[in-house]
Amino acid sequence: MTNLLNWIEKRLPVIKAYKKHLSEYPMPKNFNFWYLFGSLAMLVLVNQLVTGIWLTMSYNPSAEGAFASVEYIMRDVEYGWLLRYMHSTGASAFFVVIYLHMFRGLIYGSYQNPRELLWLFGMIIFLLLMAEAFMGYLLPWGQMSYWGAQVIISLFGAIPVIGDDLTLWIRGDYVLSGVTLNRFFALHVVALPMLLLVLVALHILALHEVGSNNPDGIETKLTKGTKRAGYQSDFRFHEDYKKKYDIIDSVPFHPYGTVKDLIGVAAFGILFAYVIFFNPEMGGYFLEPPNFEAANPIKTPEHIAPVWYFTPFYAILRAVPHKLTGVGLMGLSILMLFLLPWLDRCKVRSFRYRSPFHLLNIIQFVISFVALGILGSLPATTLYTFMAQVFSFGYFMFFILLFFYSKNEGTKPLPERVNFK
Ligand code: HEM
Repeated sequence: MTNLLNWIEKRLPVIKAYKKHLSEYPMPKNFNFWYLFGSLAMLVLVNQLVTGIWLTMSYNPSAEGAFASVEYIMRDVEYGWLLRYMHSTGASAFFVVIYLHMFRGLIYGSYQNPRELLWLFGMIIFLLLMAEAFMGYLLPWGQMSYWGAQVIISLFGAIPVIGDDLTLWIRGDYVLSGVTLNRFFALHVVALPMLLLVLVALHILALHEVGSNNPDGIETKLTKGTKRAGYQSDFRFHEDYKKKYDIIDSVPFHPYGTVKDLIGVAAFGILFAYVIFFNPEMGGYFLEPPNFEAANPIKTPEHIAPVWYFTPFYAILRAVPHKLTGVGLMGLSILMLFLLPWLDRCKVRSFRYRSPFHLLNIIQFVISFVALGILGSLPATTLYTFMAQVFSFGYFMFFILLFFYSKNEGTKPLPERVNFK
């Protein structure tokens, strides 16, 4: 066995990569609850890939057969109901996990220098994830699948000059049809998952090149020789890191990170199992009631609302009566997140040592985002539209204010070592 492993290792250093990127990766010892969501995102990604492959075995990607094949999976395929609920719950769980993961980056300033590229890879993943979820949602070919896709694809029609041609190109037909379903299927099961996997790999490589941030937002990898001898911890870290830095206040990922993450996995597993076995529709938020009716191109549902994870952006879109402006603002709301590393000009990362005003700004941003999420799922009455305008203002103000106050922000003195109790 040892000889075989050595033989492989000489030709492809798998064990070295395992040690460098997993077991001997220096993890800041003050990692907290918020640092669980990266590994949970990976777990959900694997869940989606595995259940997705098995669903594909019984799913029929045609306008005539799609809806019935989903019913067939639910009723006749052995454990088909479990596969489907794991996949549909997994989609929502993915966004819960990712929103919390992004929020962590926001409060601890993990997007700041030198982690900008890591953040950008994350944002591309976020966009891909939205595309993946949107295309997956068309596949059951229910009423909401059909009309939701209709609404979103028609948004591209608002783009001047190329709009009409673009929607035709996306649909592959003059109306939303089986042709569209077929191409969405191809993108959903092959193209986007492959891209996602590549980007997650780049995301982790970019993270390990610069090292993890932590709740205090201070460096735990110091330039060699910065601190007096003996400052460096005695733990076994991978040579590649030790050669480059003096590592302080860190522990090897195994067993400390693995055990910590396993607790997160257990807690997540309990919540996930609760939804799958007791509440798979989650009150219509994870699986919407109109989608239990087959798609009918001549009958529009009374109220078309996207799944909850899209509603904050949908509310921004609907806040403006002018379609093109709405589409532009929605695009801008995502662009702002991409630009975050350059909008925040503060030298201090974590909110712990930043001004009270920064904390207030984060709080108002979270309130605006959640409020937009709720409004996006309700019918667009005059009152709700007005509220969506107010909270869209709050959303954008977060970034605008941040840009101005962060340059000369009054910050607290940073500790020399991380806080760890
Ligand atoms: C499939 C989706 C994703 C996966 C599997 C993933 C995975 C991970 C993992 C395993 C870590 C290290 C552990 C941790 O810090 O929690 C991490 C760190 C990080 N991720 Fe992600 N991620 C995903 C999406 C995103 C997105 C959408 C963003 C933001 C736009 C993002 C931003 C970050 C940042 C800034 C860090 C470093 C945090 C720090 O060190 O403080 N990630 N990611």
